[in-house]
Amino acid sequence: TGMFTYDPGFTSTASCESQITYIDGDEGILLYRGYPIEQLAEHGDFLETCYLLLEGELPTAAQKADFDYRVTRHTMVHEQMARFFQGFRRDAHPMAVMVGSIGAMSAFYHDSTDISDPQQRMIASMRMIAKMPTLAAMAFKYTIGQPFVFPLNSLDYTSNFLRMCFAVPAEEYKVNPVLSRALDRIFILHADHEQNASTSTVRLAGSSGANPFACIAAGAACLWGPAHGGANEAALKMLEEIGSVENIPKYIAKAKDKNDPFRLMGFGHRVYKNYDPRAKIMQKTTHEVLNELGIKDDPLLDVAIELERIALSDPYFIEKKLYPNIDFYSGITLKAMGFPTSMFTALFALARTVGWIAQWKEMIEDPSQRIGRPRQLYTGAGPREYTPIGRR
Ligand code: CMC
Repeated sequence: TGMFTYDPGFTSTASCESQITYIDGDEGILLYRGYPIEQLAEHGDFLETCYLLLEGELPTAAQKADFDYRVTRHTMVHEQMARFFQGFRRDAHPMAVMVGSIGAMSAFYHDSTDISDPQQRMIASMRMIAKMPTLAAMAFKYTIGQPFVFPLNSLDYTSNFLRMCFAVPAEEYKVNPVLSRALDRIFILHADHEQNASTSTVRLAGSSGANPFACIAAGAACLWGPAHGGANEAALKMLEEIGSVENIPKYIAKAKDKNDPFRLMGFGHRVYKNYDPRAKIMQKTTHEVLNELGIKDDPLLDVAIELERIALSDPYFIEKKLYPNIDFYSGITLKAMGFPTSMFTALFALARTVGWIAQWKEMIEDPSQRIGRPRQLYTGAGPREYTPIGRR
């Protein structure tokens, strides 16, 4: 022992050099390629953010039009994929369906994906960004027992996704532009977050030269957990469980109790030791969506606002620098839009796909890239003699 640095949870190990996303956790700053998240969320759209993350620069109008067109051309999935879906239990969690179906995509684009060819890397990236809404909407439709809705590529990316989720045959469906804009903004906020657990998973999987669709499936699997992308689902369930403002002190006490494993979901972050900048934008978006839908007094929102107020003035949370993170408000917004809690993490995966792919691409193009191979400190038994089974 002593040969390697022991760093459980990788809190002080940089696994790569990256030019994509910058976080200053103490100041609560998040930049994509140098641009503040607040400005991108306010003025940009999700596909522009995708272009920025992948290419390093904001697109010109012509580049943007070309990118949108190319993504749009790849939104369909093979009809065999639709049959593949039928193999899942009908009550399967949408994330189980996502992990399986993204992985299955590697079977469709394996031989055609030569990762040493920059052209093909770009096509694979486009395909994933384009098909993820289709897969997420199919996962949703499948679990609610409705027929799949084909992509309608005259719509913008996010409106198309909303339509694939909420349109039903023989009924007119008009996308609400306020909701579409709000969801697009949620996608921007989730697009990348440097070397988090799922992104590191994608990089580690990709470091062996594996098929990029398979790598993204690995990232989605990691994202599913409640300490990561599953937190938005967990946060909403917690708000529902708390139910009303009077119950908050009881839950605050539980969260502070060392002997109680309960944590305030949507609070705390490995890197942000200040207000998560995404949570601020999310809070504003939540109000916009509830206003648009005419939801005046949402009890969950009341609980959220009061919980935030109490926690932010409690010494326990102040000392440990626990602030609301992005997941604290996103659940309320997505629920108001009509998504069931079980879809929340799938929406996160949809948006994070571009980050995963941009990071994967950066890794493949990095000349210092080697297969990821963490070391260990062995703490097991020393050498000993094998005993035959009859003598144990
Ligand atoms: N409620 C109550 N106490 C908490 C919380 C919380 N939400 N988060 C951390 N703590 C306490 C924890 O008990 C520990 O106390 P002590 O030092 O006395 O043992 C201290 O704060 C540090 O916690 P940690 O678990 O060592 O910190 P970490 O960096 O390993 O974990 C975290 C970060 C996000 C996993 C954690 O804060 C957490 O579990 N939060 C709730 C789940 C959540 O909202 N996750 C979403 C993260 S943001 C989106 C994403 O990444 O996908």
